[in-house]
Amino acid sequence: MSFDIARVRADFPILSREVNGHPLTYLDNGASAQKPRVVIDAMTRLYEQDYSNVHRGLHTLSNISTEKYEGTRGIIARFLGAPDEDEIVFTTGTTHGINMVASSWAAPRLEAGDEIVLSIMEHHANIVPWHFLRERQGVVLKWVETDATGALDPEAVLAACGPRTKLIAVTHLSNVTGTVVDVAAISAGAREKGIPVLVDGSQSAVHMPVNVAEIGCDFYAMTGHKTYGPSGSGAIWIRRDRMDEMCPYMGGGDMIREVSRDAVSYNDPPMKFEAGTPGIAATIGLGVALEYIMGLGMENIAAHERRLRDYAQERLAGLNWLQVQGQTPGKAAIFSFTMEGAHAHDLSTVLDKRGIAVRAGTHCAMPFLDHLGVSATARASFAMYNTEEEVDRLISALELCHDLFA
Ligand code: ALA
Repeated sequence: MSFDIARVRADFPILSREVNGHPLTYLDNGASAQKPRVVIDAMTRLYEQDYSNVHRGLHTLSNISTEKYEGTRGIIARFLGAPDEDEIVFTTGTTHGINMVASSWAAPRLEAGDEIVLSIMEHHANIVPWHFLRERQGVVLKWVETDATGALDPEAVLAACGPRTKLIAVTHLSNVTGTVVDVAAISAGAREKGIPVLVDGSQSAVHMPVNVAEIGCDFYAMTGHKTYGPSGSGAIWIRRDRMDEMCPYMGGGDMIREVSRDAVSYNDPPMKFEAGTPGIAATIGLGVALEYIMGLGMENIAAHERRLRDYAQERLAGLNWLQVQGQTPGKAAIFSFTMEGAHAHDLSTVLDKRGIAVRAGTHCAMPFLDHLGVSATARASFAMYNTEEEVDRLISALELCHDLFA
């Protein structure tokens, strides 16, 4: 199936609005992607026609909601190449999934002096839960830096692992530079050493086909709002043997089998990890979003985004007064940049006046910015609905910034 950019754009109602008198140029997809009409309609239809709580009722609406909600598990399994849909735990997003692994898998088994290996590119969501273990139980965090080209060498990650290393936690795709990490090579090497691997798939799942079985990791966390689904939705894939090693995360309804005054027994995974009334509409919306992008074809999406990346790279390279961070081969269409004389926030404000949405700041990745030697950057992060014309708009707005601030 060919990728028809005009049709894709027409599927996203928000893309036809104006901002500050200009057509919206939405380049803040790394922070959150926009939603297609099918997702918005599915959520509206649920609330107008079918909504009830899930797993609890025997009545018609509860059964419809439960069927739609549980149907999403299989969709996510297909999207991630997971062998078994019962290895998919619904979450509110990547942060939730990683915190679950930190609390329910790592905290009970790691002791003072045990090590977790992280890359310097990690988002705070894949740093702070491990800092909790450092603070609370003396776990040691070991950092692996990117090489001179800005890439993460899998061999460097494996070389950082010693006899006390109990986990490697690594991003699949940097939210700052778009660097893609060879998580399959890391997982293969880690498996030989008997070290589990957690992959933060928050940025990657939307840009490339993902297959957790081929990657060979143990945990793969993704988020819904970056994959054109609703905010507050997400999932983590946990290999079955790792699930069996985990204690429950939150306690409450749905995750139990029986509760008495003196005892509690737990439901089977994945429900063991899903306490309380979940994000029903959000999860159902995520399923619709993933069906939508699988229908377009992840390979087609990736090919379109590679073309955009190449074009943006070429145009940005023409601005010799702009410093673009981390131009590694095979990167995603995410560009962080600085301009002498202008703070990143100033760049963002001027671009916004032209209807161009970018993020500016530290991108929840302070150790990485420190490593890059910058205090803040502006970031343009592209999605499948962006166009070369929008790259041109970005370039002409940056030229305006240069006129204003240089
Ligand atoms: N993690 C998101 C970003 O990179 C919010 O902007």
